[in-house]
Amino acid sequence: MPARTVLITGGSRGIGAAIAALLVARGDQVVTPSRASLDLANPDSIEQFLAGNRELPVDILINNAGINLLNNLAEIPPGDWQSMLQTNLNAALRLTQAYVPGMRTRKWGRILNLSTIFSLVTKERRAAYSITKAALNALTRSTAVEYGPDGVLANALAPGYVDTALTRQNNSPSAIQAIAANIPLRRLARTEELAQVAAFLVSENNTYLTGQTIVVDGGFTCQ
Ligand SMILES: NC(=O)c1ccc[n+]([C@@H]2O[C@H](COP(=O)([O-])OP(=O)(O)OC[C@H]3O[C@@H](n4cnc5c(N)ncnc54)[C@H](OP(=O)(O)O)[C@@H]3O)[C@@H](O)[C@H]2O)c1
Repeated sequence: MPARTVLITGGSRGIGAAIAALLVARGDQVVTPSRASLDLANPDSIEQFLAGNRELPVDILINNAGINLLNNLAEIPPGDWQSMLQTNLNAALRLTQAYVPGMRTRKWGRILNLSTIFSLVTKERRAAYSITKAALNALTRSTAVEYGPDGVLANALAPGYVDTALTRQNNSPSAIQAIAANIPLRRLARTEELAQVAAFLVSENNTYLTGQTIVVDGGFTCQ
């Protein structure tokens, strides 16, 4: 397989770091900008990054970074709503707009958007998360439909509960134990397990799977 140039957001830790490590191991050229050089919550920072990286020949774009600020629906502070929309949705759209033209020219591209099972089902205090991630699934479908004819395949990966800082921040240790007991596989996912699926979706081996939201949740949402 030819080495591909990959841009992945949120590669410093969690799922993004695991995906980056696997793609580096398979020989891809992986760019993982830190928040200091690409702050997705700040549209000016995105434009600055794009101005400095216009020529980056991105073959694979992985919109991984995301945030989940918990609030009851009626009490979502406007600032939280804006941050979630900007980080989880607008940033992914902007990076797609910036790098899809190069993929079309080269007639090959793969885009992966990190979604969540809460884009399909939900839970109390996850309204903003569910809404922004459901919109990300829609962005994925639109990308697949508009650019499929140019060899660009786009998918969303929807993990269930993964053992990361984000999960530990939003669930107490006892809540995590209770969640694990309610997952058919009786444990949270490891980041490496998500990385394996992600690596396939953005590989040469994926030749026909596009526009989908792929759930990887240990069977949790089957119940
Ligand atoms: N963990 C789960 O159980 C789970 C389940 C379903 C879906 N997901 C989704 O999977 C993705 C990764 O989740 P994770 O659990 O691996 O997250 P995480 O451990 O919280 O890491 C988040 C990553 O995103 C980066 N990030 C956050 N805000 C950013 C910003 N404004 N600009 C640039 N980078 C930013 C962080 O950078 P810093 O290091 O600078 O903070 C970090 O690298 C997210 O989209 C999340 O919604 C996670």
